[in-house]
Amino acid sequence: MAHEENKAFLRRVPLFSGLTESQLDTLAAGSARRSYPKGRTVVSEGEPSQSMYIQLAGRAKVQRSDSEGKEVILAVLGAGEFFGEMSLIDDAPRSASVITLEPCEFMAVSKDAFKAMLVQSPEVAMNVMRGIVRRLRDADKKIETLALLDVYGRVARVLLDFSENVGGERIVKNKMPRQEIAKMIGASREMVSRVMKGLETDGYIVALPEGKLQLREKLSSYIS
Ligand code: CMP
Repeated sequence: MAHEENKAFLRRVPLFSGLTESQLDTLAAGSARRSYPKGRTVVSEGEPSQSMYIQLAGRAKVQRSDSEGKEVILAVLGAGEFFGEMSLIDDAPRSASVITLEPCEFMAVSKDAFKAMLVQSPEVAMNVMRGIVRRLRDADKKIETLALLDVYGRVARVLLDFSENVGGERIVKNKMPRQEIAKMIGASREMVSRVMKGLETDGYIVALPEGKLQLREKLSSYIS
């Protein structure tokens, strides 16, 4: 039963599009569904790896920390994305930690099953490469942001990146704690609070109920 359920889930995951029934069987045999509450570490930086993960529901942050415990958030992942593939590909320790920001559901795929799919299916290999290239593009953009923008620009870039078009308005739907924004842009929480207050007072952003934000058109002027 679990096998058939896992197979049905995996069939709908875009990363594994193009697999034959027998390949899906192999993959399902090496996969297990996992549920995690908010705040749980799913993979830990520096540890050896046995699985990669497909995110089915919820959001999780990818984070690194230095020896003093200072943290930087590299990315926030949502449903449909995957992680934990890097250390399976190069056999090095985990490059970062992944921690749930809200209750999450994952499909954990064993190292053997994942590697078998990479070898057997050029389509899966291509999908994995596409995902890694997209991340490199995002990382390039982030380096540019950190190198060239002041702190107002960095906050504006994060807010715009996390916003979506809702009926013609740019809205940040998920509440973004100041501390989390600070860890994304290498600034202090206090500085982010000051910048957000300034942006609100000057009409660049509008606070909505439930921690949502509306971004005004002119916010883009900070990043252009
Ligand atoms: P791995 O190194 O196995 O474990 C940590 C995972 O975090 C890594 O695989 C990637 O899947 C993911 N990861 C690392 N760096 C980034 C990044 N810059 N953006 C998104 N995901 C990342």
